[in-house]
Amino acid sequence: MTQAMTIKDYIQNEARFVEEQLRHFLPSAWDVPQPLKEAMAYSLHAGGKRLRPILVLAAAESLGGNREAALPIACAVEMVHTYSLIHDDLPALDNDDFRRGMPTNHKVHGEAMAILAGDALLTHAFYVASDACLRSGIAPEQGLALIRDFAEFAGARGMVGGQVADMVGEQGITRLEELQYIHTHKTGDLIVFSVKAGGRLANANEEQMKALEKFGRSIGMAFQILDDILDITGDEQKLGKPVKSDEKQQKVTYPYFIGLEESKKLVREHTEAGKQAINQAHFPFPQRLLELADYMMDRDY
Ligand code: IPE
Ligand code: IPE
Ligand code: MG
Ligand code: MG
Ligand code: MG
Repeated sequence: MTQAMTIKDYIQNEARFVEEQLRHFLPSAWDVPQPLKEAMAYSLHAGGKRLRPILVLAAAESLGGNREAALPIACAVEMVHTYSLIHDDLPALDNDDFRRGMPTNHKVHGEAMAILAGDALLTHAFYVASDACLRSGIAPEQGLALIRDFAEFAGARGMVGGQVADMVGEQGITRLEELQYIHTHKTGDLIVFSVKAGGRLANANEEQMKALEKFGRSIGMAFQILDDILDITGDEQKLGKPVKSDEKQQKVTYPYFIGLEESKKLVREHTEAGKQAINQAHFPFPQRLLELADYMMDRDY
């Protein structure tokens, strides 16, 4: 259906679609304390590239899967991602004042509400995902496996573990191998989950699931290395978040260890490795996934 569309238009379209659905999953008529609802909506509807939900949809599409079933899972991933950003910006973590082009959640809603809005988005994501599994008619074992993966990739062995390793990391002490762990988990895991979830919902076979995992790992690593690069070279207005945040916090990053040029080279290499994994497996409609990998590598925000 969308084959004639450029990847830019495709992304814009899909992002709009995801945003409509996100509103549906956070209805204004919800019987929830007003300040909590407002703090959740503030960050969730603040924009953002929506790349993780788009990856869920594109992975499902690459196997001819049903997008109706994938859409709530895509939204659930965006909720977890948004919660992670709210908490990442808190004074106790990166202490940043600007996100998605707006003051950070705690700057507007206060620290306590920002923490609780993050908690609520995380929990609601699991409600939305499990409710979708119940309604979409996917096999119970498939649905449970998906929810289990979600918890694993988002939790202590996944994103939260990565954030902790990032937090305790220190210039002069942390080694490059440890940075690999940080990036794999704090950023890579949710991206791996996104593409695997799309694949699972589209009944990917074992070979295809392995390829999606490799693809997610590779573009996830490329994504965070580029995030580190843009923290140095990016434009604050375009990024919608502060630059030099890593330096301010004395973070270890790829540019810190190997310099900007080598880091850029790594971004290209990881992206190519990811695309190769997809190209070697047998996907009926791999085009958008491959284009997304290139788009993510070439972004400047
Ligand atoms: C920022 O993610 C945090 C990282 C894991 C690098 P994005 O760059 O996808 O942020 P949004 O969703 O577009 O705001
Ligand atoms: C954040 O990494 C990763 C998560 C939020 C899980 P960063 O701290 O580098 O992300 P930005 O640069 O603030 O978006
Ligand atoms: Mg951080
Ligand atoms: Mg940060
Ligand atoms: Mg960063």
